[in-house]
Amino acid sequence: MAERHLGQRSKKGAERWKKHFERQKELHRQIKAAAGEDILKSRNFRTTREHIQHGNMTVNNHCMNVAKYSLAFSDKLHITCNRKELIRGALLHDYFLYDWHDEEHVKLYRFHGFRHPGVALKNASQDYRLTEREKDIIRKHMWPLTVVPPMCREAWIVSAADKWCSLMETFHMHRGHGALLQKLRTKREEEGDR
Ligand SMILES: [Fe+2]
Ligand SMILES: [Fe+2]
Repeated sequence: MAERHLGQRSKKGAERWKKHFERQKELHRQIKAAAGEDILKSRNFRTTREHIQHGNMTVNNHCMNVAKYSLAFSDKLHITCNRKELIRGALLHDYFLYDWHDEEHVKLYRFHGFRHPGVALKNASQDYRLTEREKDIIRKHMWPLTVVPPMCREAWIVSAADKWCSLMETFHMHRGHGALLQKLRTKREEEGDR
């Protein structure tokens, strides 16, 4: 009886895991379709893999998560929006292209929360052709810090997804490769000193 019960539980667990895996695969497919050719393959976007965001996450992991959660929020809440712009804005919302924990950015660090949306927008505008919605997403994602509220639903969704992901990362509920990255960086620096 107990064995049968355990068997049913593990079967349910496997089904849940399979469903989650399929969902993640589908979100990935949508992100790739919306931004695979230019953003995901670009050299600058790839450098975000070397920068730590919160806790153990790289900026790249964080932006991918924000894109996934933005899609998930809009689905769950049945909010009709432009999914392509939602994804692209989410991927580029933290396109500031520096590590805000680095010593050379220590002055910026204090004002990072206020300044980085503007820096991200400037960088993204140089590298990609942005729509007005995508610009609004990047510019306003830190609202209310940025005072002026988002002007489109896509920007509201990304702002909410960003806050959710940042909270999860800060409390290590979302885990990335930041610690591994730090180890590799330290090792590289030590090798350089020899
Ligand atoms: Fe940000
Ligand atoms: Fe962010």
